[in-house]
Amino acid sequence: MDIFAWIDNNLNPRPSTTDVMIYNDMDSQSGCSLPVIYQKFDAANPMHWGERGAIYDFLFATRGGGKHLLDFGPGDGWPSLLLAPMAAKVTGLDSSEKRVEVCRENARRLGLPNTVFVSYSAGEALPFADNSFDGITAASAVEQTPDPRTVLREFCRVLKPGGRLRLSYEGLARYRGGREQQMELLKVDEGQTKILLYNRNIQEEYVDNYAFKLSLPPAELVKLVPEEDIGALNPQLLEKLQPHIVFAGKCRTIHPSCGTWLNWLDEAGFSQAVATHGGKVAAGILYQQHAGDKEFGDMDAVDQLVKPAVRAAVELECPPEKDPPITAIK
Ligand SMILES: C[S@@+](CC[C@H](N)C(=O)[O-])C[C@H]1O[C@@H](n2cnc3c(N)ncnc32)[C@H](O)[C@@H]1O
Repeated sequence: MDIFAWIDNNLNPRPSTTDVMIYNDMDSQSGCSLPVIYQKFDAANPMHWGERGAIYDFLFATRGGGKHLLDFGPGDGWPSLLLAPMAAKVTGLDSSEKRVEVCRENARRLGLPNTVFVSYSAGEALPFADNSFDGITAASAVEQTPDPRTVLREFCRVLKPGGRLRLSYEGLARYRGGREQQMELLKVDEGQTKILLYNRNIQEEYVDNYAFKLSLPPAELVKLVPEEDIGALNPQLLEKLQPHIVFAGKCRTIHPSCGTWLNWLDEAGFSQAVATHGGKVAAGILYQQHAGDKEFGDMDAVDQLVKPAVRAAVELECPPEKDPPITAIK
């Protein structure tokens, strides 16, 4: 039995967008995991090294130091809030009003007056004049929009000539071997819980996303759906949940692989697009070599080590198979 076909036929999920289905209901999109924004930097944590590498990746690949950057789909303010101290100004654009509210609050708390966060309606033209930005960062966000090809054309329009886009994205190859279909449970508040379902078509590079909001407290839902295991979903269980469903939505998101992005960036009008090594991976390698060294005990010391490696990595072409980040130049 194809559970997704059963859902389409019996639960009538209505056409929606990821901002409504997922991001509007999260207090923190990152689960408060981001160093500097939510946590003190910890040099013993490899993820925190990776984060520093990713931030310098965006800074160096866009040549964004002292410039005006657009951060598309900032979530909790990432990478915008970490780039802001090194840029002239950072504008964050997100179609989720909730995310914009969270970014503004984080910017206020961190004392970053050179940041502006703006919302717009998913699928519409970006609310900026032609040639507005020196650089654009987009981290795992373009593939969450209704039409990534239109967004790339819009990026080209709002970038200044010679401006650079740095794009990181979620390719689907990582889900091969058993993670093609997945379920997640999300606490909305004390009285409501969400079930998110993903049906990934890796070959065709798209995901059918489903969201069900239930008027059930998380503790009650867990009694009915004990594990985040999509194999446990069946029509009987869904029929039991049906009276509690207050919203059922569905949308298809396109998840291009590196080769597809490169073709689309060319089509969108960029003069050059290159996949290069990423700063996050470079910083991860440095962590393995230096973990435990006393002199790398704080963020400044880690930065001094990570920066030159990332500066070099983002200029080195990388084979597309690993879906590495891409730099595109207008
Ligand atoms: C996976 S999160 C990434 C957040 C952040 N960049 C990060 O890496 O932590 C995707 C973000 O894209 C935003 N988003 C979804 N659809 C969008 C659209 N049409 N235009 C702009 N942002 C969108 C979501 O609201 C969310 O903030």
